[in-house]
Amino acid sequence: MTQGNAIRFPTGFLWGAATSAHQVEGGNRWNDWWRWEHRSAGVDPKLQSGEACRHFQRFDSDFALAAADGHNAHRLSIEWSRIEPERGRIEPGAVAHYHDVFASLKRHRLTPVVTLMHFTVPAWIADLGGWESRETIDHFAGFARFCACEYGAEVDWWCTVNEPEVLAFRAYSEGVWPPQRRDDSAALRVMANQLEAHGRAYRILHAEDRADADGDGRAARVGFAKNYVQLEPLRAWSPIDQLRAYFENRVFNDAVLEAPVSGRIELAIPGARGVHRTVPELERSLDWIGLNYYTRWRVDAAGRVPHVARRGAELTDLGWEVYPEGLALAARRAALVGAPVLVTEHGFADASDRLRPRALVESIAGLGREIDRGLPVIGYLHWSLMDNFEWAEGWHGRFGLYRVDALRDPECRERTHTADLFARIARSNAVMPELLGEAGSEKPS
Ligand code: FCB
Repeated sequence: MTQGNAIRFPTGFLWGAATSAHQVEGGNRWNDWWRWEHRSAGVDPKLQSGEACRHFQRFDSDFALAAADGHNAHRLSIEWSRIEPERGRIEPGAVAHYHDVFASLKRHRLTPVVTLMHFTVPAWIADLGGWESRETIDHFAGFARFCACEYGAEVDWWCTVNEPEVLAFRAYSEGVWPPQRRDDSAALRVMANQLEAHGRAYRILHAEDRADADGDGRAARVGFAKNYVQLEPLRAWSPIDQLRAYFENRVFNDAVLEAPVSGRIELAIPGARGVHRTVPELERSLDWIGLNYYTRWRVDAAGRVPHVARRGAELTDLGWEVYPEGLALAARRAALVGAPVLVTEHGFADASDRLRPRALVESIAGLGREIDRGLPVIGYLHWSLMDNFEWAEGWHGRFGLYRVDALRDPECRERTHTADLFARIARSNAVMPELLGEAGSEKPS
């Protein structure tokens, strides 16, 4: 509700931050990423996760920071390779660890939103062909079943897979993530297999997690996280750029959002072998849709050109255009799936914390105005609680509400101005007019 110029959010709105296991825990030595980070002696330590933020040890004090900042939810992932470091061998210490993590979240009154697959797979899964192999769908379904039975009484909000499209393109088409393939047909299969895995996990989580952890009458609420990027022709007048933008948008955005509604996987890229598959478990398999939103990209005849921004546009440290209006626009598209939208990631790599305050407040204000107009958005989880291992960028992209200088001291946590602004939003469940002023934005009309 917009009242006295404040932009208010619905009661019960989820406010929090997001992380993923490999990026913050440290010492995740049983997965494909760790192995890749150590593929040769010459890999720069700045590109290795190492001890990361030692969140594996420090989770309780990290959650205390989030709780003190008024967060009421927290997104994290369970690292499959810790639970099952070798095929069929469950590691009891790791299983117990995540029980401790969920107990700590509960103590801090943070609702867990739990991702089962956030880019990393156990090394033994990678050896079986990773997501290129349909066998991985069965193994993942087994892991989902295990988690539902083991943690169902502590977790209601399940996020099956994170950004199936990003993993597919980064690792199998662009070849910049393990296993560094450059094969569009493989990328489409990888995307399809993860979508199918979501459908399977959706049914399993509902069948096996019968325990209502938070007492709201619902035992499992299942979705997945979609990275939505507006894909616009580089030269708006060029029919070739327009056509290519259309195809890129189709495969990267629309096909991924349509599959869990219709149960049809329809993936195609000019020049690649398409995937056309009907998966009954995938049909109507969203209780909510996770939206990860960062930026928009340009497309020319050759494909996506992510680092070409509009003239004069502000760029983050990773060269991503700052586009605060984009979050609400993306949420509008995501809502077309017919399920409530949970923003599962949104943030800016800004080590100086100079452009982020305004970008954050404007983005959230824009989202709030859309909610006012009826858009069903149920929460906002910022990426990220702390600076962390940014995949192939290593320790370069710093997204944290808390600064961590991991290579010097993985245990330090330094609060940023953005953390303070975000805390004020979360605590008041509103964007107050003075906040927009303070962040350097105009007041809402
Ligand atoms: C997303 C990933 C997340 C993080 C942010 C910056 O694509 O899901 O792990 O790296 O980008």
